[in-house]
Amino acid sequence: MKLAILISGRGSNMDSILAAVKRGQLPLAQPVLVLSNVPDALGLTIAREKFSMHTEVLDKNELKGWEYDKNLMTVLRKYEICPTNSLVCLAGFMRLLSPQFVHIFKNRILNIHPSLLPSFPGLHAQRQAVEYGVKISGCTVHFVEEGLDTGPIIIQKSTPVFSYDTEETLSNRILQDEHLIYPEAVKMVTEDRVKISGRTVQISY
Ligand code: GAR
Repeated sequence: MKLAILISGRGSNMDSILAAVKRGQLPLAQPVLVLSNVPDALGLTIAREKFSMHTEVLDKNELKGWEYDKNLMTVLRKYEICPTNSLVCLAGFMRLLSPQFVHIFKNRILNIHPSLLPSFPGLHAQRQAVEYGVKISGCTVHFVEEGLDTGPIIIQKSTPVFSYDTEETLSNRILQDEHLIYPEAVKMVTEDRVKISGRTVQISY
């Protein structure tokens, strides 16, 4: 199964997936493209220099919804990425995909979010968790639906929140777990071990 990884920044989750592929841990995943909506995203350099990946930039960020995503479709088509043969992995891609795009790639888009969804969706999830005073937070990999950080959950991993935590310390601790669960989720989906039934995801081992 082909993988397109979409990023906006440093790309550490992208790195964790590409590194797992390189180690032979995701034998059915074939990464073909890393795309960013931010031209100077650090992850693009890592993708090219560390992993010899093709990269693309689509920075028409003034375009909203489907107007942007039509361009995205064109780029994906260039790499023969389509819903029947591919998975689109959002790895810190800070744009909301349009309902049209989500519909076309139904159950073919994964996202990672730094909280135990449905708690703390949206921006600054780790800051939200610290400010709310929760004792446990974590990270979630889920299928993408139209809403923000919604969609059937594939894997979650919990992380304790300590009284001395700041947004930064909690983010760092959660990120370590993100790097474990995202490759694991990609592995399960590419191996066709994941069945969606309504909101629920069943995994066969
Ligand atoms: C990660 O913490 C990811 O969970 C978060 O952005 C960061 C990207 O870091 N995504 C979201 O908040 C999505 N709602 P990375 O570029 O190093 O992978």
